[in-house]
Amino acid sequence: MDLSPAARRAGAILHIDLDAVAANWHALRDRARAGGRSVDSAAVLKADAYGLGAVEVGRRLWAEGCKFFFVAHVDEGIALRAALPEAWVCVLNGMPPGAEADMIAHRLVPALNDLGQVSAWRGCAQRQSQPLDAVVHLDTGMNRLGFGEEEASLLATDRMRLRGLRLSLLMSHLVSSEKPADPLNRQQLDRFRAFVERMPGAPVSLANSSGIFLGADYHFDLLRPGAALFGINPTPDAPNPMRPVVTLMARVVQVRRIEAMAGVGYNHDWRSARPTRVAVLAVGYADGYLRALSNRGEVTVAGHRAKVIGRVSMDLLTIDATDLPEELTTPGNHVDLIGPDLPVDAVAELARTNGYEILTSLGARYHRVYAGAVA
Ligand SMILES: Cc1ncc(COP(=O)(O)O)c(C=O)c1O
Repeated sequence: MDLSPAARRAGAILHIDLDAVAANWHALRDRARAGGRSVDSAAVLKADAYGLGAVEVGRRLWAEGCKFFFVAHVDEGIALRAALPEAWVCVLNGMPPGAEADMIAHRLVPALNDLGQVSAWRGCAQRQSQPLDAVVHLDTGMNRLGFGEEEASLLATDRMRLRGLRLSLLMSHLVSSEKPADPLNRQQLDRFRAFVERMPGAPVSLANSSGIFLGADYHFDLLRPGAALFGINPTPDAPNPMRPVVTLMARVVQVRRIEAMAGVGYNHDWRSARPTRVAVLAVGYADGYLRALSNRGEVTVAGHRAKVIGRVSMDLLTIDATDLPEELTTPGNHVDLIGPDLPVDAVAELARTNGYEILTSLGARYHRVYAGAVA
């Protein structure tokens, strides 16, 4: 591997394949368009595009024809606006008090989650003497964010409440889309449809990544994938239809040989059953390599697999490299923490979490390399 000095000295190299992100975006949209339906796809780039870089991902997807983006926070929207001057950008968490001027200045569209937010945003439109775009988020079962049933009904019976606003989207979010057999999916779909029928005219969006795989009923006008763009399996009970995006290669800092029955790391949480070759990697929980992977994580190198041994510490972790090819695991070499033989979902399973948490935890100290970035 031909590495720059900065890549060589970093604790780990995070390689992000934007060609794969682009291919995943097209694949999801094509899936919904099969049969000639005119469905479009947005990209959900909250949490810095699930840890992978909202600006880099956003620029590439915009170049691919993606026009609609979702973030969670106003400041995420402001950062994305600087990179994508013409994109439509919606802030899912709504409009925090006092953020109105910034939202208008950066042309951010709030997902309005209650009648109070609707009237606050209308007030802005009146003061501006121009209509403002708005998204209405309905809670169809999550019991988290969005209009509850009663307020939604008030809105539907009195459309004047939206006067001065351009309703650019009606949306809701699925509770259990990765479990196709969960009756909640159908319940939410039915509730959503009933509401949409009472508010005709506006574009409609329901499906996140897994929702896209629930079938055409769930597609409406706009898809809202996040995770699947980044290679997380949207169909956990079936092979992953998405292309992998992330490779994380950790640098070997030191190698030592220990006798049988020697402890490794804090509190000697792991003890060798045999003479062991221990490789120390320059990644720890401060980099988002979860402590839950202590004594559970795995690494791969050239098709070989090894276990994380002992506690993951702040800046380091240790692996049992006894059965790994020695020439590939000397100091300065790299082993994969995420890669072709160890996908994000597999790491998540080892950590007893999901791929979302693995990606959004990816640390700031990694040396990032983007393949397929737009200049
Ligand atoms: C409202 C909303 N829509 C879409 C998404 C994207 O979901 P996923 O990453 O499962 O595709 C999210 C993310 O949680 C969300 O909160």
